[in-house]
Amino acid sequence: MRQRAIRIPELQDRQMNFGQVINILTNSAKKPAKPKFTFIDLFAGIGGFHIAGSENGGKCVMACEIDRAARETYQANHKIKNFVEDITKVKAKDIPGHDLLCAGFPCQPFSQSGFKKGFDDIRGTLFFHIAEIIRVKKPKAFFLENVRHLLNHDDGRTFTKIKQVLEELGYSFSYKIVKASDFGLPQHRPRLFMVGFKNKKTKFEFPEKIPLKKTMSDIFGKPCNKTIGFTLRVGGRGSKIDDRHNWDRYLVAGKEYKIQPKDGVKMMGFPADFKFPVSETQAMKQLGNSVAVPAISKTIEAITKYL
Ligand SMILES: C[S@@+](CC[C@H](N)C(=O)[O-])C[C@H]1O[C@@H](n2cnc3c(N)ncnc32)[C@H](O)[C@@H]1O
Repeated sequence: MRQRAIRIPELQDRQMNFGQVINILTNSAKKPAKPKFTFIDLFAGIGGFHIAGSENGGKCVMACEIDRAARETYQANHKIKNFVEDITKVKAKDIPGHDLLCAGFPCQPFSQSGFKKGFDDIRGTLFFHIAEIIRVKKPKAFFLENVRHLLNHDDGRTFTKIKQVLEELGYSFSYKIVKASDFGLPQHRPRLFMVGFKNKKTKFEFPEKIPLKKTMSDIFGKPCNKTIGFTLRVGGRGSKIDDRHNWDRYLVAGKEYKIQPKDGVKMMGFPADFKFPVSETQAMKQLGNSVAVPAISKTIEAITKYL
């Protein structure tokens, strides 16, 4: 079998003793590959954005999550040195520089005091802290995720204000409703994706949909009564299978089955070895709060073309 030669620049054109050669070889093996881009993971939950950013060659330089149980799961699965808790306690200037700001943030109404004050209308909200980090740290791009309902929340005022503030900060603004099932997963999960670039001329396009790769029968490994599953939610487990509020019960191989974290992991596109060092109830809540990883990953891939 032919062996490929490995070129190590430090070893060329130099005369060295054996110890020096070993040192250089050891150091070059240790040197981590330079990341393609850096990102921060705000309102990090269990780190759906962390997985998607890392898959695309990014390095997460800071994460922020207030919930203790979510922090435990995050730390059990991702390497993170800079992990802060409450975003409202963090000063924007103390956040490390980064290329891409990622945030799946809770939706809150803004002040009703008219629409002329720009930044002032968003004070006291969690979105204010995202906008403040963008204002101070000026990342090359942002990627925000929220429930579809944000578009008509408070008669559309919340969305209009978010767009206005980000545009006032000098960023472009594109948005799209993206479903988990648009990216191969058997779950509807419509979510609002918002992407913007510091370079306003960037011709960003959301990625093309990809065909459904799995059905709910693949998730359970047995025939299931539904092809695409219910959107995973944060609460409200326990409705009867025929109740219109039911989202966690399926007919699997003819028997009623209540969905488990191992099924949720697959429906959200998390790696099969993802760990939950928390109770099953917490794990289901954390999955319901999280993101469909392939949809986030393909969108980050599209963003990185312009970073
Ligand atoms: C919709 S979830 C985001 C989930 C995340 N994208 C994931 O992949 O799991 C919103 C998260 O914001 C967190 N959060 C709410 N208020 C916060 C605050 N003041 N500081 C930091 N995190 C906060 C919640 O605990 C929750 O985990």
